[in-house]
This record gives sequence, structure tokens and C-alpha cells, in this order.
Amino acid sequence: MFDTKLCKSVLSPTIIQELIADFESGCDHHLVGRRFNVNIERAKELLTPIIKEHLPGDWVIDGGNYFETVRPYRLHCDSGKDEVKRLYYNVVIPLQLWATDYKPELNKLIVTNQTWNYDAAFFIKGDVGQNEYNVCVQNYAGVGNITDTTEQYLLENCGHLNPQNLEGFTTKASLEWCPGDIMLFRRDLVHVTTDWRKAGVERKLGLSLFTSYIEPGSV
Ligand SMILES: [Fe+2]
Repeated sequence: MFDTKLCKSVLSPTIIQELIADFESGCDHHLVGRRFNVNIERAKELLTPIIKEHLPGDWVIDGGNYFETVRPYRLHCDSGKDEVKRLYYNVVIPLQLWATDYKPELNKLIVTNQTWNYDAAFFIKGDVGQNEYNVCVQNYAGVGNITDTTEQYLLENCGHLNPQNLEGFTTKASLEWCPGDIMLFRRDLVHVTTDWRKAGVERKLGLSLFTSYIEPGSV
């Protein structure tokens, strides 16, 4: 199986419009600069058959949310909170972006080589953070494949972060964030966005879906 996969142009404009309308109809979580909709039932209906064409295996979508944000994200892992984990793949679905002088090559989702097998987390070495759904991790001893270097590519592209946050992380894949495409990557992989404000992006709307594998006989 693959670690990451970018599926180009798999969503029609009609499906994208339907997903955006679904987001707006149930948008209920307002934080500063961010809006969420955690009701993903319609999205699951619409997208499961499409994702199945690109993601083999027996899996279910057991989490996710729409997100609209004006700020790039931190290093994090969407590993859920289940005690017994059946982490399968993250599915990131870009829906819309608002930009001036757009430079697509600077609007990326970076998947690192580092793994995390505990509760969903932000990785914020060198900072003091506030736990949200994700807990804050400052000590990277539990991070899989952590290195003793700091990668130049991450430093250059994640100017929104304290450089110390990035210590030990390395890039596995840098995927362009483009509406119509779908990104897949292993759910235990820590990931981050570039500082896409440098790409001219002012705001973006996307959908994240989290999948878990089904063990034979478990469901
Ligand atoms: Fe994520």
C-alpha cells in the first residue's frame, strides 16, 4: 500500500458545489478565523464511492469535519482518541480557496515521515499550547522516526511556525492543495500545511475524512 497519494481532478464541480452547500447549511462551530461543520453524513454518502476507487481495503469513515480557515495549520496528527486504534488513511478534500496573485506551488500540504500512535495531537516543541480536541505535545520522544536534524524545506515553507516545532521532522511528500483533487495519506503520519498566505491565499475551505480499517468479523 502507498503512504501518500494525490488523486487529480476526481471531483466534479457539481459535487464540489453540493459539498460547499452542505458545509454552509450546518456550519455550527465558530472560532476566531475558523468555521467548522462536524456533520459529515452527506459528505460520506457522496464521497464514499469516489474514495473507494482510490483507496482499497475494508474501511469505514469514522470521523472528520469541514473546516474553513484564514490561518495555516500546525504540525498535527489526526489519530483520534480510540484506545484500540485501527488507523487507516486520512482523506483531505480541498473545496474552495480565496486568493490574490495565487502561487499554487506555495500552497501545499506536507506529509512528514514521522508517525504518532497516541491521541490526536499538535506538535509544538518550544511553545506553550492550549489543548483543543488535539492534545499538545512538546516532548518528541514518542514520535516515530524522529531525527536529530531540522529540515531546510520545512523551515522555508512553514514560516508560520516556531522553527523549534519542526525539530526532527522530515518531508515524505508535499502535495498541492487544489480543489477537485483528493489527498490520501496514512493516518499515523504527522502533517502540516505550508504558510499558504505566501501563496496569496486568504482563506480556504476543505473537508477532512478519517478512515479506520475493519478487521474481519469486527463490524
Ligand atoms: Fe490533518
